[in-house]
Amino acid sequence: MNTLRHITIVILLSAIFVLRAQELTSTLVVHSDSGKDTISKFIYSQFAEHLGRGIYGGIWVGENSSIPNTRGIRNDVVGALKKINVAAIRWPGGCFADEYHWKDGIGPHANRPSMVNTNWGGVTEDNSFGTHEFMDLCELLGAEPIICGNIGSGTVKEMSDWVQYLTSEGDNLMSQLRRKNGREKPWKVKFWCVGNETWGCGGIMSADFYSNELARYSQFLKNYDGNTLYKISSGGLPENYDWTETIMKKWNGTDEWLKGYLNGYSLHFYAVNDWSNKGSATEFTEKDWFATLSKTLEMEMLIEKHAAIMDKYDPEKRIGLIVDEWGNWFDVEPGTNSGFLYQQNSLRDAMVAAVNLNIFHNNCDRVKMSNIAQMVNVLQAMILTKDSEIVLTSTYYVFKMYSVHQDAVMLTVKVKCESYTNGTDSIPALSVSASKDKEGKIHISIANLHPTEAQNLKCELKGITDSKVTGEIITAETMNAYNDFGKPEAVHPQAFGGAKLQKEILTVTLPAKSIVTLEVK
Ligand code: AHR
Repeated sequence: MNTLRHITIVILLSAIFVLRAQELTSTLVVHSDSGKDTISKFIYSQFAEHLGRGIYGGIWVGENSSIPNTRGIRNDVVGALKKINVAAIRWPGGCFADEYHWKDGIGPHANRPSMVNTNWGGVTEDNSFGTHEFMDLCELLGAEPIICGNIGSGTVKEMSDWVQYLTSEGDNLMSQLRRKNGREKPWKVKFWCVGNETWGCGGIMSADFYSNELARYSQFLKNYDGNTLYKISSGGLPENYDWTETIMKKWNGTDEWLKGYLNGYSLHFYAVNDWSNKGSATEFTEKDWFATLSKTLEMEMLIEKHAAIMDKYDPEKRIGLIVDEWGNWFDVEPGTNSGFLYQQNSLRDAMVAAVNLNIFHNNCDRVKMSNIAQMVNVLQAMILTKDSEIVLTSTYYVFKMYSVHQDAVMLTVKVKCESYTNGTDSIPALSVSASKDKEGKIHISIANLHPTEAQNLKCELKGITDSKVTGEIITAETMNAYNDFGKPEAVHPQAFGGAKLQKEILTVTLPAKSIVTLEVK
């Protein structure tokens, strides 16, 4: 009798286990020939502001430094950034842009005047990193420059002179000045931000007032000698849809605006739940992990809502949504200057980067560029430096692993997945995107947001024949693992063997808190 009861219990438990296992299998459908929109490589752009050690110490050490450099720019940082194909760099701010006067940053270093960086720590800025040094950095990296012009405390003339200085071949005052400063040929500069956060540090303007300023400034930013500017309008606060409506309504699809005034529209969004208590970058609980990821997922809703307004006026999607500031913003590392925004970067940051990049990929019909804040030593950085040492962060490795999606055709993914529940709140456990590159290779990136449960995924890859799957994974022992100076790397990509492909069916087991990129070819 006892044996019978025992067998019955075992059968029941097995049935429950099988049912639960079935329940836990998420499904994904990818049509390998369905793509039409390209994931612009500019989604993989960076932001480098004169803020803390973002430029000084992080990129620029000066020619006389004992840290190996090329014309003053750190070789180790350039070497590491080259490996992630930085598409473009936004500079010099941020809030800094609206108090930057570019003519203070050209000519012999000894003659450059100093200024106070009032936004970030009140420190003295000696202007040793200016226009020529920035353009040199872009050339060393093969990245496009994105200049953010000063509309808040500058003038139309100052901004239009800057364009002429950079891009004009002809014989005029600004190109003569450039030549005098050692640069014979003009540079090509495409991307130009007409102000930054003009609702706030960029001038506390109303949308209406700014839309007139945008038109006035844009009118005098000229295209010289085959250089065509792509002008990016400042957006409002993340959820200020009226601002988007005002700018788009003014543009209203007229050719004049398209040709001359507006090509891109900016959205800034940081994954912060409480600005007065942002929390530590490395000391956090599962509740904090969940809250940060939950906030990050709002990016999708913001893009959809802004894009819907843009669609009303621009159904052909000629104007790009430019997410030119995004990422995590935590409390500064203990003992560091509160104005320098220096923070560590854990597996949680890697997850936030993966989720955002998946969202940008899936909305690449409208999102034409994104710039994570910021490149070195500031906020969610790629690289941290301490004197001559550097650390490649968890976020750096996501950018490296995901770089296969640059300029590939986005494949629409249909995902049905488990929820990740914390307390009374739930978010999807998986974040996914996929693309097909020029050689026909398919890449699928999947993040398992759940910090303690693995996810089984059954993926139907429609249209695949005779292919093989390989993969890489980023994960760590703990949610708050991070790479630090003088220690072996705790977070970095490793070969992934958890995916099997049989004809069109791909099965994947994603460990808890992991990010995987699969290659099918
Ligand atoms: O990235 C830091 C700051 O955040 C930028 O200077 C500003 O544009 C934004 O508010």
